[in-house]
Amino acid sequence: MKYGYFDDVNREYVIQTPKTPYPWINYLGSDNFFGLISNTAGGYCFYKDARLRRLTRYRYNNIPLDNGGRYFYIRDKDGYYSPAWMPVKEDLDSYTCRHGMGYTKITGVKNHLETETLYMVPLGDPIEIHRVKVRNKGNVPKEIIIFSFIEFCLWNAYDDMTNYQRTYSIGAVEVDNGTIYHKTDYRERRNHYAFYGVNHQINGFDTDREAFLGPFNGLHEPEAVLAGKSNNTIVSGWNPIASHSIEIKLLPGEEKELIFILGYVENPVEEKWQEKGVINKKRAKKLLEKYSTGDTVHRAFLELKEHWHQLLTKFTVKSHDEKLDRMVNIWNPYQCMTTFNMSRSASYFETGIGRGMGFRDSNQDLLGFVHQIPEKARERILDIAATQFEDGSAYHQYQPLTKKGNHEIGSGFNDDPLWLILAVTAYIKETGDFDILDVQVPYNCDPNNMGSLLEHMEKSFHYTLNNLGPHGLPLIGRADWNDCLNLNCFSVNPDESFQTCENQKGKTAESVFIAGMFVYIGKELAGLYKRLGKEDLAQSVLLEVEKMHNNVETHGYDQEWFLRAYDFYGDKVGSVENEEGKIFIEPQGFCVMAGIGIDNGKAQRALDAVDRYLNTPYGLVLQQPAYSEYKLNLGEISSYPPGYKENAGIFCHNNPWIMIAETLLGRGDKAFEYYRKIAPAYLEEISEIHRLEPYVYAQMIAGKDAPRHGEAKNSWLTGTAAWNYEAITKWILGIRPDYDGLTIDPCIPKDWDNIAIKRVYRDAEYHITIRNPEGVSKGVKKIIIDGQEQDSNFIRLLDNAAVHNVEVIMG
Ligand code: GLC
Ligand code: GLC
Repeated sequence: MKYGYFDDVNREYVIQTPKTPYPWINYLGSDNFFGLISNTAGGYCFYKDARLRRLTRYRYNNIPLDNGGRYFYIRDKDGYYSPAWMPVKEDLDSYTCRHGMGYTKITGVKNHLETETLYMVPLGDPIEIHRVKVRNKGNVPKEIIIFSFIEFCLWNAYDDMTNYQRTYSIGAVEVDNGTIYHKTDYRERRNHYAFYGVNHQINGFDTDREAFLGPFNGLHEPEAVLAGKSNNTIVSGWNPIASHSIEIKLLPGEEKELIFILGYVENPVEEKWQEKGVINKKRAKKLLEKYSTGDTVHRAFLELKEHWHQLLTKFTVKSHDEKLDRMVNIWNPYQCMTTFNMSRSASYFETGIGRGMGFRDSNQDLLGFVHQIPEKARERILDIAATQFEDGSAYHQYQPLTKKGNHEIGSGFNDDPLWLILAVTAYIKETGDFDILDVQVPYNCDPNNMGSLLEHMEKSFHYTLNNLGPHGLPLIGRADWNDCLNLNCFSVNPDESFQTCENQKGKTAESVFIAGMFVYIGKELAGLYKRLGKEDLAQSVLLEVEKMHNNVETHGYDQEWFLRAYDFYGDKVGSVENEEGKIFIEPQGFCVMAGIGIDNGKAQRALDAVDRYLNTPYGLVLQQPAYSEYKLNLGEISSYPPGYKENAGIFCHNNPWIMIAETLLGRGDKAFEYYRKIAPAYLEEISEIHRLEPYVYAQMIAGKDAPRHGEAKNSWLTGTAAWNYEAITKWILGIRPDYDGLTIDPCIPKDWDNIAIKRVYRDAEYHITIRNPEGVSKGVKKIIIDGQEQDSNFIRLLDNAAVHNVEVIMG
């Protein structure tokens, strides 16, 4: 069942009912100011940091689930309702929500009144615009009152939810000329305030939540709205809100536009006050003035559209499959940008007060956005590398505001360091910026202890080598990519976290997954050395890579597939010998991607086993059989009920590794089958099962052991976005940037033909057409560039700023 449709021309998903199976959200903002907004206008906004600078309040897991946002109420002679349906939930005569690139437009019609609200954050200013257009579509005049409503968060979202002995006494506002200023804590150390204003005369306002709602009423029945009149309250302590009321008369056919601005201002300390106790509002007034006309707002909207147009036209495809095109051209790169902005901090599943930036997550996310925002990718790489220690290990997370490593979680996740190499090589292949390798980067954020970025990468590589176990395979440490495979943890205390609890100091638990990563990423490092002319170093890296390759073949393969690990006791994990957890997806993906077993049939047998044991109608599950009970020697993975999360859920992040592995075997039909199974646009028709947004990936879909098989959780902030983008653009469509050009090596379903791709690469634009007259999956027979036939499928860098036509004939 569908709840909407894709409007690809406008790059929007159009939702046709407020009653989606779960709130379907979008993100506003591209720089410092961000908002989350659901299809019924729920959500919140913040400046830079979702924990420390939260502007509006949001109660996670509320009743009903999504309750709280930027709400409007319309009161007419028959009663009142919300034009975005929530919070009043009064039936509308018609409803549409358009989630676009960085904006959301919700239109509700009732009693011949159409209310269209555009929510957006303009480029360059720390504000949310709520532009409300009301149109009288009937044939009699209308008199209505519009009430706005937002609830302020007292900045620190964690304190705001926990520290009521303090927060109930500090709330403070000022009201000036119809604008409500939120200034809690401004009297002491804060130099920032928020404001909510409108470009129209108001008839009244409220800033005291209890006065606006009444002591016993929910958001769906505010007393002020029932009475048709604001109370003009000035809050003192308790809960500050901002609500305006505006009376409007509309003749038949008439339209009026109101522009509400919700903004954030930081004042220099010396300009804090206008007079004692009165905040300096100069900056807010400037913003209110700037966006006071429909023209400016419209222009800002067009600029935002153009901004996204630029970002999304670096790689586009036109094929016979509109679902594929919309994933590649619009929604997948859009989601990759969201993971750049948010990492894992703020979504409808991540509360914005939990995790910092993950070392491994951020490096992997980079693969998905490096071609869109190379300068920001560069900065991100240097920030991440600065949280590495001198022995090559790394903080597992760092805080975005301070950019310092997070002590609480510390280090010891032994896959972390290697991801840095992958991110840096991907960045240089995209940009040609070899200079980044010479940048001096601190270890552990200590400016007195620096090394070049290249040295950081060398340390990453050697960290693995310096931490090998009895089979010559990498020690796993706390965990590898799978945060929940905790082989040294042995936790019996329900009150401690698997992520941070004291571990046994074992030197036996080894990860075949890290071994596969080491071979794959080691080859990347060797390739970089070669390109830098450092042959000796390249050879010494390759020697280690080969040793590891052999160790995996000898000790990491188990009859039909790659083992997952050796545990603390040296026993196999992910083996036919195990009763549960016999086969895991991660090593099958990464070992084959690394090229292990391709020449001797082991790779093919492993991927066939993946198909046999892990494949389901909704994607590939993480392992099988699911663990039916808690296992001390395995940790958190066995703490989840069968079929959820890492215990045999469809953990989408790793599915593309299998897609990529399949392309290395030339099996384009299989690769695409796996792609299609989890790509959201293909799941639109089963939204009642999948339940989350059909335009973005979710981290997890319940596996076959779960009662709710096929149901997704944790959409938006997941490494799935970057890896699926990687799989489809570089391996299935097969356009791969390299240091000195593009490799063209598609691996597609046999019945595909005539695919047109535009790729902006360095300074030039490549128009690539792929023909497949013989119906093959892989193999390029001929490439013609600008009319000239080439002798290989590698396109050497062509000179600047030109458009090149590339014809690719497969066969
Ligand atoms: C979460 C984490 C990621 C980890 C994955 C598998 O998505 O953010 O770092 O690799 O879970 O456990
Ligand atoms: C839990 C989750 C995992 C996540 C980790 C870190 O272990 O199962 O997916 O990566 O927490 O937050």
